[in-house]
Amino acid sequence: MRIPASKTRLRMPRATDQLRADHAVVQSGLAVLGAIAKHVRAGSQFPTADVATSLRFLREFLVGVHFRKENEVVWPALAMRGSEASSAAVGDLVLRADEAHELVQTLVYFWEPAGELTAAESRGFADTVDTLQHALAELQEREEELFGDCEVTIPADDLLGWNQEFDAIAAGRPLRADWQRELAVLADRWR
Ligand SMILES: [Fe+2]
Repeated sequence: MRIPASKTRLRMPRATDQLRADHAVVQSGLAVLGAIAKHVRAGSQFPTADVATSLRFLREFLVGVHFRKENEVVWPALAMRGSEASSAAVGDLVLRADEAHELVQTLVYFWEPAGELTAAESRGFADTVDTLQHALAELQEREEELFGDCEVTIPADDLLGWNQEFDAIAAGRPLRADWQRELAVLADRWR
């Protein structure tokens, strides 16, 4: 029996749901980093290897894949087809994502496998993690409101095409599921 095209489409993950799933994994990574920051702030030893893994996740997945999906595919399309309010919101979100990227760079440049930190450096690390956590929680909440706008204003065929564009951006990098597994191991250690 031939399956109607509409049913075939329903089986494919919506591009916007992929973005929401990315956000959930990013929150898991930040929760691990937040727990590590709390530990470091309390004066305990800096867990170099786990910090390095968490920062590699932020650099490779958040910045290298997720932000690119939004900045190269989603926001340009919404800016072109969305309402005036959506277009204005997009500009602000791009700036906020840039700021989050800078915070990730700060963590990567200064603390990836840095060995023993001074007390001031430990505080600086923990403060930067806190700032990043708050910035990303707010950013993701506002982005998810716009994902709803995308579902209303972007034609269904274009949304389907986003899946291919997302795959091209992620090509050659660990998948979301790979990171989920790796972060689950870290989360077990950092509850
Ligand atoms: Fe996002």
